[in-house]
Amino acid sequence: MNYTPNQDPNRPSRQNTGYSNPNARPQGGGPRPNLPPNMTPQQKAEYLRRLEAQRRAEQQRRGNEQRPKYRKRKGAKPNVGLIFFAAVICVVVGISVHQISKNSADPVETDSLLQTLQDVERGETTNTPAEQEQTPPPFETEGENTVPAVEFSSVSVNSADINQGDLILVNYEHPYSLADTVDTVEVYSNKTASYYLSTTNHRLTERALNAMNRYADGFAADTGLSEILVVSAYRSMADQQSVWDSKVQSNGEEYAKNYVAVPGHSEHHTGMALDLSFYRPSDGASVPISEHEQGFWMTEHCAEYGFILRYPESKVDITKISYEPWHFRFVGKPHAAVIMRKGLCLEEYIAQIKNYTPDTKLLHALEDGTTAEVTASELPTEGYVIYYVPSAETEATEIPVPSGYENYIISGNNWDGFIVTVYVGKESQ
Ligand code: DAL
Ligand code: ZN
Repeated sequence: MNYTPNQDPNRPSRQNTGYSNPNARPQGGGPRPNLPPNMTPQQKAEYLRRLEAQRRAEQQRRGNEQRPKYRKRKGAKPNVGLIFFAAVICVVVGISVHQISKNSADPVETDSLLQTLQDVERGETTNTPAEQEQTPPPFETEGENTVPAVEFSSVSVNSADINQGDLILVNYEHPYSLADTVDTVEVYSNKTASYYLSTTNHRLTERALNAMNRYADGFAADTGLSEILVVSAYRSMADQQSVWDSKVQSNGEEYAKNYVAVPGHSEHHTGMALDLSFYRPSDGASVPISEHEQGFWMTEHCAEYGFILRYPESKVDITKISYEPWHFRFVGKPHAAVIMRKGLCLEEYIAQIKNYTPDTKLLHALEDGTTAEVTASELPTEGYVIYYVPSAETEATEIPVPSGYENYIISGNNWDGFIVTVYVGKESQ
C-alpha cells in the first residue's frame, strides 16, 4: 500500500454522506408561554399542568428523545393522559402538593410538576415547564454528597511549563514551541492489534497512544471491525513544512490555510493529534471517515477515550480551520466529554475554564460531560473539579490543590496559565 504519511487523506466531500453532526443537540421544549394575567395560584397551577401535558403529548407524538438527565427515570414511561387526568383531579379535589408527590407512579415526572406547583405558590412563575426542558439540569450537590471546608495547599510549578500538558491550545494564535523536542513514543511497537498504521514511523505522546489503543479497541469491540487507519500523528517542524508546501503547491496558499496549519502552529507537533481513516482490506485503499459506514462511531465515542473532534463544522470562524472529520485531539477525560457534550471547540473551552478559579467557583464535571458550578469550600464526592490558575510572572507559579486529594493533573494551556483537574470521586481511578 502506498499511504503517504503526514497527509490529510480525508478531504471532506460535499455529498451527504450520512455523517452525523457531533454538535447536534437534542431538541426539546418550546417558546416560553406567557401566563394569562390575573390568575389565582390554583388557576396558574392548572394552566401549567395543562401546558406540561400538552408538551409531553407533542413530544411523544414527534418521538423526540428526551435530554439525558442526571437522575435516571425510574419505572415505565408516563402515560400522558393519565398524568393529565390525575393532575386535573388533584386540583379539583384540592389534594395537597405533598400528596401528589406521594401518590405518583413516576417520581421524576412528579418532581417537575411539584417544582412548578411550589413555584406557583411562591409566586415564581417565570421558569415554566417549557423553559425547564431547555435549561440543562443543575448538578445536585446535596449535603451528604459534598465534603465541607476543604483546605487548599500549594504546589509549585515552573511558570514556563504552560506549554506542557493535555490541555495546551495550539492554533493560529498560539504556536507550539516544543515541536522538535516533545517526548513521544513509537506507535508501531506499542499499539494494540485493533488498528492499522499508514507508516511504521508514527509517534504519539505516551498518554495519547494509550488512549488511541483503547479507542481502537473500543471500536473493534463495538463494531467487530479492526480497520481504523492512523494516517498522521506527531509531526516535526520539517514534517509540517513539507505538508504545507505540498498543499500550497497543489491547491494554492488560500486553500492550504483552511486545512493545514502554518508550521509551528499545528497540533500535530504536540504528539496528541491524529488523522484517522479506515483501511479497506480488499484493495488496501484508505476510506475517509466521512464515507465509511462506521465513521459516525468515531465522533460519537471519541470523548469516552479522551479525544475531541478538533475542527467541527460549526466552529470554523473560531478555529480558522475547515471542518476536518478525520482530525482528533487527545485532551483527556473529563474535558473531552464536556467539550463534545456541549458542542464546544477547544478555543471556547479553554477560554471558559478561565472563569473558574479557587477563590471564585470551580467547574464540576462528570465523565459523561455534565457539569455544574461548585465552590472550593464544598467539594463534591464524585467526578472531577476543574479550575484555572494564571501563570505567575516569576519563575514559579504556586498552584492551590485541595489537601488530601492525590489524584490531580496540572496542565498548561499554552496561553497564560494552568488548568487543574482534580478527581474528587471516592472510587480509585
Ligand atoms: N490539519 C491541521 C489543521 C494541521 O495541519 O495541523
Ligand atoms: Zn490533522
